[in-house]
Amino acid sequence: MQPDPVQSPAFPISAHCDLPVLTDEQFGDDPHATFRRYRADYPVVAHQAGNCLVLRQADIDRLSKDPRLLASGTGFPKMLGVTDGSLFDAFEYGMLTANGDVHRRRRAPFSRTFAARAMAELRPVIRRTAERLIEEWYAAGHVEFVEHFAARLPAVVISDLLGLPQRDIPAFTRHVYDVTRFINLSVLPEEIPVAENAMRHLLGYVEVLLDDRRRQPCGDFLSTFLAAADEAGELSPIEMLFQIIILIIGGTDTTRVAAVMQVCLLLQHREQWNEVCLDPALIPAAVAEALRYEPSVASIGRVPTEDIDVDGFIVPAGRLCTLSTMSAMRDERVYATPDVFDIHRAAPTRLHPIFGAGAHRCIGEALARIELEESLGALAAAIPQLQLEAAPTIRGYTGIRRIDRMHLSWIV
Ligand code: HEM
Repeated sequence: MQPDPVQSPAFPISAHCDLPVLTDEQFGDDPHATFRRYRADYPVVAHQAGNCLVLRQADIDRLSKDPRLLASGTGFPKMLGVTDGSLFDAFEYGMLTANGDVHRRRRAPFSRTFAARAMAELRPVIRRTAERLIEEWYAAGHVEFVEHFAARLPAVVISDLLGLPQRDIPAFTRHVYDVTRFINLSVLPEEIPVAENAMRHLLGYVEVLLDDRRRQPCGDFLSTFLAAADEAGELSPIEMLFQIIILIIGGTDTTRVAAVMQVCLLLQHREQWNEVCLDPALIPAAVAEALRYEPSVASIGRVPTEDIDVDGFIVPAGRLCTLSTMSAMRDERVYATPDVFDIHRAAPTRLHPIFGAGAHRCIGEALARIELEESLGALAAAIPQLQLEAAPTIRGYTGIRRIDRMHLSWIV
């Protein structure tokens, strides 16, 4: 078992803290405005809940590679009163919450399976999946896009990657989203048993799939993963199981929210939507700009093992430190006119900050970009006359952000 870097479940603000302490109310409906206001004068702010938020891009780049900041281990489920069971085990055995050599061991088997080249081969299949989803509702002339497209695409892609039978995909998808609510910490106490039950179902699916591939390797994603894990001989069976679970969870809600926001932003900036429809070569830049402007993942959580000086302000040891990529992606020091949505913006760095940095940088980045690019490409090609009837509300300014509904219509 790895030690938990989180010292206090409540992360209390210490008496000597000289940072402004913000509340949820201050972030309100426009967290970007609050970030903008404080980022000008402070590299870090404290939050009423007890965590610190780091606001500027340069500090986040540095801190996300600083070995004195650790992933959170099992501190979060313990905060929710969950100290055993399969939800707890996802934090105990998964790569996302692990540190040092344990993290390296758990992540290593994916370097081959997630190579950009291997992912690129999936592009035509993913395009076809997006087109198939659109064909299901095109004739109706309207759709609620979150449920009927954005939630389904990443779940189908992951199911295909794992070789799950088609008939199991709807139940699998439901379980994934029930579990995700817990992992995102957006679960109500009474929903925890539902999430635990869903996690057991997912474990059951993955266990059967791994057993099948072990008996009969077929050169697919899971067979390659097992071969790499066996060759290294560094993962226990339960660790193998949970790395796949973390992958499933990491690759669904993140992409669902991003797939919605990119369409919403482009339709709200109609001239840019029209440009994308006329010139599909603009799609990768449009995806990147939507991820920057209204990100699906707002931050990365770390816990310092010692007091950390951030431009003269101290983030105390043991206090949850939220690296706010959402704030950083509008940092005036990096982006010209950061509050303007502009798909022609020159990319400031090769590595998009939304996917994190350092040892935990997103393993599914290449896949996520392909999913987002192909879903936008399919939609722009099939329905250039698309209209936004009701924009979704996007909420939250840490972790994975939440959206409600998005209604679209078109003339058939
Ligand atoms: C728009 C979509 C996505 C976004 C914004 C995103 C963002 C991130 C970020 C910020 C991290 C780093 C977390 C940290 O440092 O604590 C991360 C890690 C991770 N992501 Fe993604 N992700 C996306 C899609 C995906 C997809 C499609 C997959 C896989 C199918 C995936 C799998 C993972 C995994 C397994 C990790 C853990 C890596 C580690 O701990 O070493 N993600 N992601």
